[in-house]
Order: sequence, then structure tokens, then C-alpha cells
Amino acid sequence: MKIGIIGSGGIGQAFARQVVKAGYEVIMSNSRGADSLKEIVKQLGSKARAGTVEDAVGAEVIFLAVQWIHLPAVAKQISNWAGKIVIDPINPVVPPDYKMAELAGRASSEVIQEMLAGAKLVKAFNTFTPPLLQSSPEEMGGKRVVFYCGDDEAAKTIVKSIIDAIGFAGIDLGTLKAGAYLQQYPSGPLPGLNLIKL
Ligand SMILES: NC(=O)c1ccc[n+]([C@@H]2O[C@H](COP(=O)([O-])OP(=O)(O)OC[C@H]3O[C@@H](n4cnc5c(N)ncnc54)[C@H](OP(=O)(O)O)[C@@H]3O)[C@@H](O)[C@H]2O)c1
Repeated sequence: MKIGIIGSGGIGQAFARQVVKAGYEVIMSNSRGADSLKEIVKQLGSKARAGTVEDAVGAEVIFLAVQWIHLPAVAKQISNWAGKIVIDPINPVVPPDYKMAELAGRASSEVIQEMLAGAKLVKAFNTFTPPLLQSSPEEMGGKRVVFYCGDDEAAKTIVKSIIDAIGFAGIDLGTLKAGAYLQQYPSGPLPGLNLIKL
């Protein structure tokens, strides 16, 4: 399975390292184009290549790792998100002070779901820093917990299979409405926890 990564900064690269290790192919992309990703792709190895955002969106699963403020540009760049399985590790914080964005009482993933009309959004992997995400998920005889939630059961099953393959323990928090607010940084209770399932 191919995974397209939009946003090749700290979180995009950390996730890419884990999935490449598990045998997935990745297409890395950013705003500056493939040439700027040569070194990152070299480090990731033969399962990785650099491409455009459009190339990344052509993969079976998309990992959308851009900052909140860059989402509208990415959303607009792709004319049709319908049916795309999108993993959302995004925290709704705004520079320069990284305070929470104004969401009118909604979870950030509900807002992103609206921006990416018809996409099958699964929120996951937003509760770790890049060093924790890329480190071994095995600790103290157990597996590090990844929370996920989403409204499309089939998309969640695929994301769960990726979570399993890279060695984490997935915990399904239900729909976006039920789970995304719990996962969300800075308002939810789950970010920053390093929980191990024994
Ligand atoms: N860092 C953390 O501790 C952490 C933890 C959990 C979740 N998150 C979330 O993960 C997301 C990514 O965070 P990060 O720390 O990895 O950010 P980052 O290091 O700033 O990387 C952001 C990436 O997004 C790319 N990008 C920006 N605009 C784009 C566009 N229009 N099209 C395609 N790519 C674009 C950037 O590419 P260029 O450099 O080419 O512009 C860069 O590769 C954020 O939403 C953040 O809230 C971060």
C-alpha cells in the first residue's frame, strides 16, 4: 500500500519513518517541491520517493501533516477529495503564540472534514511529539497507544491496520464528534500522554 504524505516536517517525517520500516511505500510532499525533499527521501530509503501534493493525494491513504494555517491552501489545491482516506494529525494552533484557533465549539477535525469535502477523515497520531512518534512503540513489555476516531468505519479499519503494522496499539474513540475533541491539542485530555497497552 502507498501512503502519500502532505507536509514533510517533524510529524510527516516521523510517521514516514515508521511506515517505511513496516514496508509501506511513501510519497513525500511539501510546498517547495520534490527537489527540496531529496535528502529526506534518501534518509527514508528505497520505499520513499518525493512528489507533488497531487502525487501524494493519488496514494491509497493520505497523511496530512501541515500546520493549521496552511490547511486552506492544501484543501483548495485538490479539486476533489471525495473518497480519499485522510489521516489527520493536525493540532489547531496558530502562530506566532500557538494559541488555539477559533473553532466555534467544533473539534478541529470536524472543521477539516468540512474543508476536504467527501474525504474519509480519520484523526490519529496528533498526541505525540515527533521524537516519540518515531521511536520504538514497544515499551515496558507493551505497545504505545494511538487514539483514532472517524465517521467512516472502512477508513478506520484501514488506518487501524497501519497502526497495527507499525507496532502501536490503536484505540478507537468512535466518531469525529465523539473522539476528536478528546484527542485535540491544546483543549483535549489525551495529547502528551505516553500510554502503554500491556
Ligand atoms: N510538532 C509537533 O510536536 C506536533 C505534534 C503533533 C501534531 N502536530 C501537528 O502536525 C502538523 C505538522 O506539524 P510539524 O511540526 O510537522 O510542522 P512543520 O515541521 O512546520 O512541517 C510542516 C510541513 O507542511 C508543509 N507545507 C506547508 N504548506 C504546504 C502546502 N501548501 N502544501 C504542501 N505542504 C505544505 C511544509 O512544507 P514547506 O517547508 O515546503 O513549506 C512542511 O513540510 C501540524 O498540524 C501540527 O499541529 C505537530
